Amino acid sequence: MAKIIVVAHLKGGVGKSTLATTLAAYLAQNFRVGLLDADLPQATSSQWAAIRADANIVTLGCESASRLAEITEQLDAQCDVIVMDLPPRSVKFLREAMAIGDLLLLPLTASAPDVWATESVMQVVNECKKTNSRLKTRLVWNRLRATRATLDFLDGTAKALRAKELSSHLALRTSYVECIGRGLYVEQWHDPRAKAECRLLLKQIIKQVKLSTAEFSSG
Ligand SMILES: Nc1ncnc2c1ncn2[C@@H]1O[C@H](COP(=O)(O)OP(=O)(O)OP(=O)(O)O)[C@@H](O)[C@H]1O
Ligand SMILES: [Mg+2]
Repeated sequence: MAKIIVVAHLKGGVGKSTLATTLAAYLAQNFRVGLLDADLPQATSSQWAAIRADANIVTLGCESASRLAEITEQLDAQCDVIVMDLPPRSVKFLREAMAIGDLLLLPLTASAPDVWATESVMQVVNECKKTNSRLKTRLVWNRLRATRATLDFLDGTAKALRAKELSSHLALRTSYVECIGRGLYVEQWHDPRAKAECRLLLKQIIKQVKLSTAEFSSG
């Protein structure tokens, strides 16, 4: 059974596709990755994957929440790990993905609107927990600025949302914007700080889903 990592939020523009594509590229170093792009016709992840042409990434689109389980099964047959990039504003997709996921990652920025929208997501999370006890949920802070005000903002916010957060995060860096448009990821870009933060993030995510490199299937 492939591990399923769902990257989602009800709010648009929080960094879902950036996180999903970054994760897919890193995981593809060691695993066969299924990238399920449910945000169509925008198709950010699919477009990135098409340019990237990584033999270890199988990409499938999913236009309707009712087909999510079936398309996941198709990927499950070929992959060790599945990364889902969900569309914003779809509780239906969120529920379907949470029913089968192992890890739900919720990217968000240090801003009041993102936190307000995360309150709504957490309501859905708390309902769905009852049907999938395996699912873990983690906030992933994105586009962070290294300022005192940002640190103050983060302090206690996850707790107030009654959510857990990954201690590593993504800072605001043009490298992410540059990479996605070229089908790249930060390991292929001249930004050591982006590489360092992504490696840390990946380590934490791999630990959460208990993926081991022993599961790598080369064929
Ligand atoms: N850490 C970051 N630093 C700088 N820019 C970022 C970062 N993360 C995301 N961005 C940029 O912010 C914008 C929104 O990011 P992204 O497309 O990943 O969000 P999304 O949640 O998938 O959006 P949508 O809801 O429209 O699908 C993009 O232009 C992206 O390049
Ligand atoms: Mg997106």
